[in-house]
Amino acid sequence: MKNGLKIESLTPALSRLTGEGESFAVSDENLWLDLPDGHSQIRNRPIAVPSPIGWERVRVRAGRLSIILFALICLTFRTFCADAEYKQVRIETLTNAVRVRLPLTDVTGKVRVKEKSSDGFGLPVAPSKTILGKKHYLEWQIGYDIPNTNSPSVVPEIKFLRNGETKYGHELSKIIFEAVRIGLLSTNDLVREIEALKKIRPTEFEESQPVQVETATNTMTDGFQSTVQRLPQFTKTTPHGWVQIQLKQKQHAVGYQAMVYVCLPLDEVLTPDGLPRKAGPAKSKETVYYDFTRENAAFLLDIIHAFGLASRQHNEDMAHILGKILETSASR
Ligand code: ADE
Repeated sequence: MKNGLKIESLTPALSRLTGEGESFAVSDENLWLDLPDGHSQIRNRPIAVPSPIGWERVRVRAGRLSIILFALICLTFRTFCADAEYKQVRIETLTNAVRVRLPLTDVTGKVRVKEKSSDGFGLPVAPSKTILGKKHYLEWQIGYDIPNTNSPSVVPEIKFLRNGETKYGHELSKIIFEAVRIGLLSTNDLVREIEALKKIRPTEFEESQPVQVETATNTMTDGFQSTVQRLPQFTKTTPHGWVQIQLKQKQHAVGYQAMVYVCLPLDEVLTPDGLPRKAGPAKSKETVYYDFTRENAAFLLDIIHAFGLASRQHNEDMAHILGKILETSASR
């Protein structure tokens, strides 16, 4: 027994895993291993091994744990999908309207609730804690293209190249495409807009407007000097909403970029059953609807024009998209 290793019952730590105090008695004869002389320390230390019943419990508990883990992953995935679905702007075509579904409580997304302000920039509000009514509007950073066809708001028929990359029409493109299809806009409207886009001179692009930085002549207290940045903003107001072009600092590059926002007054939006939304705080995951109809179809042309004014790239993209819509409507 001198060079042997004694195998004993469980240590308390392991026994907790396998079941309280479960060990099994094994005769001493089976519990000694032959080890070389250099391992005398190990030789003298007892090793814990769970009993066969203990291992079975470990196996059962590990099984239960994997089921719980799997259920948790499924639940997280479902929540993630439901959240992504909620945040998505959806476009559906009715007989006489193109209806847009927008999320009301996605405060970090592309659709935000703001309170009107005299400077025109608006103040973001917490939708579920504010009585949303006449003073409020939705500021929607509308998109018009996407690099794949994975979104329900894509138009696969509108496919074009930008700097060698394939793009598909999305959101605004789909609204215009559907508006022409159901007759809210005519092909002549698009032809006229293409001509208007061509007439915008490069110096007029919002992106080429200088950003002014004013430095105050007087030095402020404690040696801090004040400087003020003036960022230009263009707004086109219509009776059913307004469209804005704002210059913003580029997020991942140097310089400024022109952003286009469609602003929809909250007293113009509808509930899922198509009725005007009553003033009140947003409910959890509330969605609202905005209809483009014959009455406000000209607003769509203003949105296209805003992109045309924003930058050379947006101007070219709009011309491509309108051209594609004309092509597809001619072949219908
Ligand atoms: N590109 C696509 N959508 C845009 C938007 N709303 N503003 C600026 N650039 C865009």
